[in-house]
Amino acid sequence: MKKVLSYKAGELREFAETLRSRRTIELFLQKTVPEKLVNEAIEVAIWAPNHHVTEPWHFYRLGEETKQQCLDLCSDIVTAKKGDKAAEFKRRSWSEKPNWMVVTCKRSSNESSQLEDYAACCAAVQNLTLYLWKAGVGSKWTSGDIIRDPRFFEIVGINTDEEFVVGLIWYGYPKMTPMQFRKNRKDVSTDCP
Ligand SMILES: Cc1cc2nc3c(=O)[nH]c(=O)nc-3n(C[C@H](O)[C@H](O)[C@H](O)COP(=O)(O)O)c2cc1C
Repeated sequence: MKKVLSYKAGELREFAETLRSRRTIELFLQKTVPEKLVNEAIEVAIWAPNHHVTEPWHFYRLGEETKQQCLDLCSDIVTAKKGDKAAEFKRRSWSEKPNWMVVTCKRSSNESSQLEDYAACCAAVQNLTLYLWKAGVGSKWTSGDIIRDPRFFEIVGINTDEEFVVGLIWYGYPKMTPMQFRKNRKDVSTDCP
């Protein structure tokens, strides 16, 4: 007799492959990502779990003018830290990131709620990037110096009394997909009696 499964094994394998194959992308093609797809990605991102349904996230999609201001700021930050040559290199590399999105989290006066809200925002970013990945669009989540710089908040229009930055997400079609490794399941899990 044929075994009846409560799920479709093929679909589940495909889902697992989507989760496993998603990679942080460094190099992107200069090809337009449909706006509709990005809107859909945000729409599914917000179905992430969030304690007390606080919906603590906000998604800022940066236009060309804002991107250019971020590139100038990036140059200033790197020049001050590492000098002109390093700044020029970084600026060139960042100017090739085709699409920019900033994800913020609402501030909370309560420490445990803040942790929960941050966790929810991270789950939302994962939803967003996995949805894009399934559509062939890669991304990189960056948490470098720029996301804590007051000039960045001003450029993007972030009200720091009410929110903080979870990450700057670059996205686009991958030019190259790197390899990654993970530990074995047995090294990261314990079956408690
Ligand atoms: C919260 C967070 C912050 C990250 N910040 C950076 C970063 O600033 N620079 C960077 O190169 N990668 C950053 N990454 C990406 C990780 O380096 C990447 O996930 C890791 O190398 C594993 O690669 P994978 O995403 O392809 O599995 C960040 C990832 C997370 C989740």
